[in-house]
Amino acid sequence: MVQDSVQPVLEIWGGHSLQGDVTISGAKNSALVLMAGSLLCPEDCRLRNVPELADIKKMSQILTALGVKLIKNGNTLDIDARDINPTQAPYDLVSQLRASFFAIGALLARFGNVRIPLPGGCAIGARPVDLHVRGLQAMGAQVLIESGIVHAHVTGRDRRLQGANIYLDYPSVGATETLLMAATLANGETIIENAAQEPEIVDLANFCIAMGAKITGAGTNKIIISGVERLHSVDYQVIPDRIEAGTFLVAGAITQSEITVSSVIPEHLVPVIAKLKAIGCQVVQEDSDCLRLIPGELKATDIETLPYPGFPTDMQAQFMALLSVSDGYSVISETVFENRLRHVAELQRMGADIRIKGHHAMINGVAFLSGAPVMATDLRASAALVLAGLAAQGKTIVSGLHHLDRGYENIESKLVKLGAKIQRV
Ligand code: EPZ
Repeated sequence: MVQDSVQPVLEIWGGHSLQGDVTISGAKNSALVLMAGSLLCPEDCRLRNVPELADIKKMSQILTALGVKLIKNGNTLDIDARDINPTQAPYDLVSQLRASFFAIGALLARFGNVRIPLPGGCAIGARPVDLHVRGLQAMGAQVLIESGIVHAHVTGRDRRLQGANIYLDYPSVGATETLLMAATLANGETIIENAAQEPEIVDLANFCIAMGAKITGAGTNKIIISGVERLHSVDYQVIPDRIEAGTFLVAGAITQSEITVSSVIPEHLVPVIAKLKAIGCQVVQEDSDCLRLIPGELKATDIETLPYPGFPTDMQAQFMALLSVSDGYSVISETVFENRLRHVAELQRMGADIRIKGHHAMINGVAFLSGAPVMATDLRASAALVLAGLAAQGKTIVSGLHHLDRGYENIESKLVKLGAKIQRV
């Protein structure tokens, strides 16, 4: 009889307050795209503050399959992308990690020819890449998509992309990143209008500029890139993870605990801090890179997820857990992804009073949640269930930890250090 592999679960005993400080890791959604960006460079690149995450490991496997040499030393990653074959991205791995698709821009810019699998959809939506493809076509790429593989190549004598004026129908983070990377080595100037403004875009631009790229406007909705012949090696530090930081601030709020989060960039957390204050908490800047969460009486508020600098969709599930125990009637509108309310059913299992109408969730705050066995459906939903478990009465069992491990470096050891009663069994 084949013993089905027993998956680990998190056991959480709620009702314990937290205290102390938590150090935030490097940003997953920056590290992944900087790893893709290193493909632009035919010399050694060093990335520091790279978080230890399942997604980073998967990205490393994908780059290795392309021929990249990677040496990981704790949170430092040395990357040598001198000799690579841009058509060897492994189907099974790329389809599991959407961020790896963003490498198409770097590979096309450097080699003029690339074959990369389409990223699959996932729990939160279909995740199309039409904005990426249309932008590359505007830069002169011929793109053919067949049997799940995107084959892009540049014709013409020097097989180089041409600068272009590109307007994004939606300020897509990934499309902005793909096109920014492609434009760094194109002939001439590229303008990306209606570009995404997330901090991870600015980090990617700063990384490319440190390699010799000419980019202005990153962080605004208009980015201008003047192509250069070649980029050179770089030693670069990844920004802190604003979503991990926000998640821990919510952990303090939902357990009514005063904690500090360190190694953060406060300005990246403005929309999250604004909502924590609206709900009744205080967030005080202790130091240039440290925030203190002071809990207060939790009261209802409305949230609409939007592209940056609006409220981040990656914090929506965490705030739904918090609003589930905030007094009054809240409405959360998820406008970025079409299917990112799947944590509602699990929170209801813990006693939350939530009704879904389209992409709105109507939340009636309850006095307390009750621990229960719950299943994570996607990365940020799993974080929301952990937060709910910290606040609930009794024991919560969270399964589906592979989602959680994609985006949070040692979350339970960081929570134990804050005094949470949580263990992986
Ligand atoms: C990035 O995904 C992040 N992932 C996501 O984080 C984040 O939720 C998202 O940006 C929004 O902030 C990484 O950076 C690796 P989008 P991305 O392109 O680039 C539509 C997490 O939890 N769209 O800005 O895929 C798309 O369907 C993950 O860490 C198109 O229609 O997000 C979605 O509705 C989850 N066509 C909307 O735009 C396209 O060509 C936003 O997607 C591209 C996107």
